[in-house]
Amino acid sequence: PSSETVTVYFTLPSGEKKAAKAKIGDNLLDVILENNVEVEGFGACEGTLACSTCHLVFSQDQFNKIPEKPTDEELDMLDLAFGLEDTSRLGCQVTVVKEMDGWEITVPVGTADAR
Ligand code: FES
Repeated sequence: PSSETVTVYFTLPSGEKKAAKAKIGDNLLDVILENNVEVEGFGACEGTLACSTCHLVFSQDQFNKIPEKPTDEELDMLDLAFGLEDTSRLGCQVTVVKEMDGWEITVPVGTADAR
């Protein structure tokens, strides 16, 4: 338990980049909510692994450095996510670690996109 924070950046579907303070030990869904990073419909199930709206896309390097590997439940849920990538994770399942300082994480275009 520590109150140490790192700074991460979220690239939103609009192309806007938002800096966010991330507490080590929190998950990335909490970080987005606590920093009022507004993404429509994000985190709809409040981290209970029942939706896929907390979908985030990482770089390959970042993806490899995330200490916790996805569970089968997370992978099943990710399969339902719009715009799935090889380096996709669900934000509510990814815990913030020190190494994430300065990371740029992409919030993919969601189902609300009308293309
Ligand atoms: Fe629903 Fe993460 S918030 S799966």
